[in-house]
Amino acid sequence: MEREKFSSKLGFMLAAIGSAVGLGNIWRFSYVAGENGGGAFLVLYLFCVFIIGVPLLLAEVSIGRKAQSDVIGSFSRLSPGTPWFMTGFFGVLSAFLILSFYGVVAGWCIYYLWNYISGGFFVEPAGGYAAEFGGFISHAWHPILWHALFIALTIVIVYSGVKKGIELANKIFMPTLALLLVGLAIYSLSLDGAWAGIEFLFTPDWSVLGDPSVFLAALGQAFFSLSLGMGAMLTYGSYLSKENKLPSATFGIGVMDTFFAIISGIVIFPAVFAFGIDPGSGPELVFITLPGIFGQMPFGEIIGFIFFFALTLAALSSSVSILEVPVAFFMRIFNWGRKKTSIILGFIMFVLGMAASLGMGIWAGVTPIGSNNIMDSMDFIASNILLPLGGLSMALFVGWYFNKSTAFEATDMQDNSIRDIWYGIVKYIGPIMILFIFLNAIGVIGW
Ligand code: TRP
Repeated sequence: MEREKFSSKLGFMLAAIGSAVGLGNIWRFSYVAGENGGGAFLVLYLFCVFIIGVPLLLAEVSIGRKAQSDVIGSFSRLSPGTPWFMTGFFGVLSAFLILSFYGVVAGWCIYYLWNYISGGFFVEPAGGYAAEFGGFISHAWHPILWHALFIALTIVIVYSGVKKGIELANKIFMPTLALLLVGLAIYSLSLDGAWAGIEFLFTPDWSVLGDPSVFLAALGQAFFSLSLGMGAMLTYGSYLSKENKLPSATFGIGVMDTFFAIISGIVIFPAVFAFGIDPGSGPELVFITLPGIFGQMPFGEIIGFIFFFALTLAALSSSVSILEVPVAFFMRIFNWGRKKTSIILGFIMFVLGMAASLGMGIWAGVTPIGSNNIMDSMDFIASNILLPLGGLSMALFVGWYFNKSTAFEATDMQDNSIRDIWYGIVKYIGPIMILFIFLNAIGVIGW
């Protein structure tokens, strides 16, 4: 059977931007930036995205395009008989881990969306949004139903194929998302007192950099947001052919991903400050704070609907890229059809996600890492450990396993004026920085 392909470079870019832009840009970015002091975090984050992330993204996509196979297959094809395929193996593992908790949070989004459609949130629920949210996510099975719905939607898009599912969905979702968020940002800026939010986001308070965990948070956020280090971008790259040039495409993905993160910040922080709420309120920021704010705004029900609709679309276009990683792999090794593979793997992720969901309620006492509940532990292991290590491994593969001319050829960098800078980053600077941030955060080297 012939391997599926995107119909054009634009189709690939929209799908890759769709993968990158998701809950990570809106929900995760806003609370991580809020917890880590705003402006200074943003500077570190931009550094991690453009100096480390984008060059590594180019390396990741190029591996898939060159090998024309899934994450594991690509490494075994390009380096037969070596342990490099383990990188892909960890990628598949991360996909299960990430989609499980991602689907739960996305399920919460659909629940909120439903409440803005059905009228449930037209007036503030008795007890306020904090009690509403807390009660909902800790319920034994309500959130699991919404999680199931979200995973089902993801499965439908993935089993419809690369062109008719993934590419088509993104062609519709991404422009819609951009319009909705830009509209919301303009509205948010028009609120009285909005400026304090803009200042929080754009004025760096360097004192937060004394804490090494801020660096790891910025790195983890950059990897998560760019969908880097797991093989999602590698897998999408494998649906491209050699005519589509990679450097401009990957740079464009980095720019768009950053654009969406900043726009989300502009939607969220002005509103947060205008209504006197703590920007560091954590993962609940989007689910408790915003609805409270929408409730006090004119046309708040419509704004709430638009916001959660946008968030759900963003989440879906990302989740399909996560599911596609193991789907591509299992289709190849077991020779299963796309439909069967998507359903089976999606179902497994649904079941794993139940643990993350129950961890919000009856299993709240289960704290695998430090004081983190199941979901935060899954996120921590995936975003702050597996993704950076996956990205590190892919960088080493392109920087050290390929020779220089193969690396330039695989990435279309032969005639690029900054090819040596890129190569230096992929070969030395990126890996060293990842290791440094890592060891620093776990306290091996006290900086
Ligand atoms: N980048 C997406 C977001 O910001 C999430 C995501 C999609 C992802 N695919 C990924 C994260 C692969 C890590 C790896 O929401």
